Amino acid sequence: MRHQRRMRSSAALTVGISMLAMNANAFETGTPPEPPPFPAEAKITYVARDSILEFKALPAYSEPDWVTEKFVKASKLPPLEERLPEEPLVYKTGNMPDGLGVYGDTMRHVVGGRPEGWNYMAGQSQGWGGLDIALSECLTRTAPLFQVNAQDTEPLPNLARSWEWSKDGHKLTMHLVKGANWSDGQPFTADDVMFYWEDAVLDPNVSPLGGGASPEAFGEGTTLKKVDDHTVEWTFKDAFPKQYLYTMAYPNFCPGPAHLLKPKHPKYSGNTYDQFRNAFPPEFMNMPVMGAWVPVEYRPDDIIVLRRNPYYWKVDEKGQQLPYLNEVHYKLSTWADRDLQAVAGSGDISNLEQPENFVASLKRAADPNAPARLAFGPRLIGYNLLMNFSANGWGSPDERGQAIRELNRNPEFRKAITSAIDRKAVGDSLVKGPFTAIYPGGLSSGTSFYDRASTVYYPYDLEGAKAALKALGLTDTDNDGFVNFPKGTAGGKNVEVVLLVNNGYATEKSLAEGLVGQMAKLGIRVVVNALDSNQRDATHYSGRFDWAVFRNRTELSSVVQNTEQLAPIGPRTSWNHRAPEGKELDTMPFEARMADLVRRFIASQDNAERADLMKQYQKIYTENLYTIGLTEYPGALIINKRFSNVPPGTPIYMFNWAEDAIIRERLWVASDRQGRYELYPEQLPGKPGDDGAIN
Ligand code: GLA
Ligand code: CA
Repeated sequence: MRHQRRMRSSAALTVGISMLAMNANAFETGTPPEPPPFPAEAKITYVARDSILEFKALPAYSEPDWVTEKFVKASKLPPLEERLPEEPLVYKTGNMPDGLGVYGDTMRHVVGGRPEGWNYMAGQSQGWGGLDIALSECLTRTAPLFQVNAQDTEPLPNLARSWEWSKDGHKLTMHLVKGANWSDGQPFTADDVMFYWEDAVLDPNVSPLGGGASPEAFGEGTTLKKVDDHTVEWTFKDAFPKQYLYTMAYPNFCPGPAHLLKPKHPKYSGNTYDQFRNAFPPEFMNMPVMGAWVPVEYRPDDIIVLRRNPYYWKVDEKGQQLPYLNEVHYKLSTWADRDLQAVAGSGDISNLEQPENFVASLKRAADPNAPARLAFGPRLIGYNLLMNFSANGWGSPDERGQAIRELNRNPEFRKAITSAIDRKAVGDSLVKGPFTAIYPGGLSSGTSFYDRASTVYYPYDLEGAKAALKALGLTDTDNDGFVNFPKGTAGGKNVEVVLLVNNGYATEKSLAEGLVGQMAKLGIRVVVNALDSNQRDATHYSGRFDWAVFRNRTELSSVVQNTEQLAPIGPRTSWNHRAPEGKELDTMPFEARMADLVRRFIASQDNAERADLMKQYQKIYTENLYTIGLTEYPGALIINKRFSNVPPGTPIYMFNWAEDAIIRERLWVASDRQGRYELYPEQLPGKPGDDGAIN
């Protein structure tokens, strides 16, 4: 019997059992089972980092003929040379899977999200699916690094075209691309960068999209100053903290147009922070961007249309201004519809990430005449159950909520919960086959930093879990099947947990439903709070949740991207443990050890040491159940066959989403394969705030 097995003395422990806590309810642990082999993974061609792009002047530049004819010749637009930087970003032909491209066509995206507005810097979502990524350019770029040899990885230059470290490693001088312009023709300068730093990152009332751009994400005590219009200088407490170059990529350092935003910011106007955040609603067309396309049309619940940015600052080696694609669509639908449309050919791209759609999509793509290509990548999509660890007020819980927080912070409670989850059943409920793997939480098994031997797994043990709850004083005093709080805590009522879920994903809802069922068997009542993605984010950021089901983010899939989010190293870096306004973080000892390892990882230059620090981190994380892992599986990129320059083996998620990793500004469609999808042929974005495109 399981019960007896747990009572064994530690002397009887066999090899492979890595830990046994010193109390009666100790759970046996081991390493997670080997994930099922998954042969369909696409192969990546690895390249040197400097083979992708460079900044240099070319002898001549060109653009689509209609731009010159209809706009430049009509004096509606300055000549191309005047619109481009002195030295534009040049994509090297050798790194282009299909070589130099031709102009034309549209990429048709489908998304399940909805836009809140265009104030990205103030945290407004544009509806996801890579729309914000298409608009926002960042100091550095990391998504394409999936194809760079691991020993060679450092973020790619982008708005910051180059940088040097001081001798002592405490100062980093960054040179911004010189002579680049926003899509409305206004110059991009160090003032845009400083506005972002001072009035978004350093202003506690402004949280840029993605939620990771808090000051400590760039290191405690870090400062930034303007040297001249195209130079900024960072000062760090640590020497050579190269890790922060990753924080300067999406989503944490993508400045907005200061010339529009600054006059609306509370520091420079009579506006409230809410008014600032909402100053550029979705109806506001032609928001200036540094990205390759500009929004020119918005029809609620229908579509967002983007047209090429005539000031885009990237070119190919022939001097052709990018992007090759004239238009981009974002159909406002559902995430499940994105998969359907991509395989059917009425949409162009999808990250196949909801296992419920795997089988049907694979069948459709197997047909040689299928319009889209489908390729699986590494097992990098994972889900965790996050428990809110704040016991000092993040999200202002009521008495019940506070009692749940105390339980969440109790390691015996977390062990009971994790042991009551049958992960095989969880995976099988999403999809049958070799896709899903048992995931105990922590670093994703698909990252290079993953070490199975350092991963602690609590196998399914429902009886053990029940006994653990009993030992915690949680028993069903009123015989309704759910355990109650002890007398004197939260009125002795049933232990009822509210689980926050994003209702836009079938996978997330099935995982939540699965948890409701499995927790009921344990005697814990779980109530699902399913919200749309914008409301879910707002609820999460303000700490109003007991538990939440969360899809993993890049810190777990890459480790080097958003590293500070691996632990509560600051008041706002963790996803499940943040400090309430004006208060300290009530860090638990194991979290402090995780935070220390993460800080050392960030400060270390030594690859062997970094690998070792992550092993220690993984051990503490999984042993102490910082989060409760649910399942892990590979995702597949579905992309229409007419597109050229899609890098083979692009993972749907690693340093960033595939929409960024495929480098959309470099994609093209051969002339004889171009679809008639452009809604605004031969038109360009108009002035900020004006309606639509102009011709
Ligand atoms: C959503 C989708 C992902 C990806 C991202 C990009 O989260 O689910 O597949 O497209 O948007 O931001
Ligand atoms: Ca009860």
